[in-house]
Amino acid sequence: MASYTKTNIFYISVGFWLSLGVESYDGWSSHTLTVQTGGSVTIPCYYDKKYTQQKKYWYSQIDKTFKNTSEENLSVIDHSDQSLFTVTMRNLQNKHTGYYYCVVETGEQPSKKTIYETYLKIQSAPDVSVVNSSVSGHEGCDISVQCFYSSDYQNKLKQWCRYKDQSCYTVGRTDTSQNSSVQISDDDGRRSFTVLMTGLRLTDSGWYWCSAGDALSPVHLTVTEADIGAEKYKWRFCLS
Ligand SMILES: *[C@@H]1O[C@H](CO)[C@@H](O)[C@H](O)[C@H]1NC(C)=O
Ligand SMILES: *[C@@H]1O[C@H](CO)[C@@H](O)[C@H](O)[C@H]1NC(C)=O
Ligand SMILES: *[C@@H]1O[C@H](CO)[C@@H](O)[C@H](O)[C@H]1NC(C)=O
Ligand SMILES: *[C@@H]1O[C@H](CO)[C@@H](O)[C@H](O)[C@H]1NC(C)=O
Repeated sequence: MASYTKTNIFYISVGFWLSLGVESYDGWSSHTLTVQTGGSVTIPCYYDKKYTQQKKYWYSQIDKTFKNTSEENLSVIDHSDQSLFTVTMRNLQNKHTGYYYCVVETGEQPSKKTIYETYLKIQSAPDVSVVNSSVSGHEGCDISVQCFYSSDYQNKLKQWCRYKDQSCYTVGRTDTSQNSSVQISDDDGRRSFTVLMTGLRLTDSGWYWCSAGDALSPVHLTVTEADIGAEKYKWRFCLS
């Protein structure tokens, strides 16, 4: 049943994009973002550098409109220095549950291209959530993020992934090819897992998500420069 529905949605969205003359992106691995009713969410849309000068849009399959500018309960902001635009939706209600797309103007035919597809699910108790979707830490120090999941997701794959290159770290897997600077542990019985990033580097800044199964929650990490000499006082500096 689930797979039937998924296939159906797949064909509906393909037909839908073809009818609009919008080129779809490769890889239909759609992300489900779960958000609490009344809450807000920021979605990062990473794009290829060649689209830096082009217009970017947020497309809602619910009201079938392309939005390029901010309005009440919505911000669309281009961070061209990071090859990314972010969309923030606020005061989310059940009626906002549905498919959304990050779209760029290509300057050629077809004129628009989907670079990211997401299914937004507004729930009174989100399947996956974080307390604060914005975390920050100093260079050389550590940060931890606790990701909560509902009981339905207890036995699903838990991951911490970076949007930029889609690289993921997985709970309960020892992978020596990955850096030991990220550790994930399942907090047995507390319906959460904790991600610990140690020895932060400035290049670690950016958008991540924590996920259980197909449900995820985005998290933005800001790494700030360490003061000169901070290394010497790391034990004290990292606590501040
Ligand atoms: C929206 O369009 C304006 C005018 O073309 C442009 O300056 C701005 O960067 C666009 N915003 C995004 C997110 O693409
Ligand atoms: C913004 O959210 C508030 C609170 O839910 C709502 O009353 C208002 O109608 C929303 N505005 C728009 C333009 O959707
Ligand atoms: C979330 O964390 C950021 C940075 O650590 C902080 O500036 C912000 O106030 C926090 N927001 C909430 C709602 O706690
Ligand atoms: C591991 O760290 C190196 C630099 O120390 C970096 O180039 C590489 O991308 C990292 N690998 C992963 C999987 O994060």
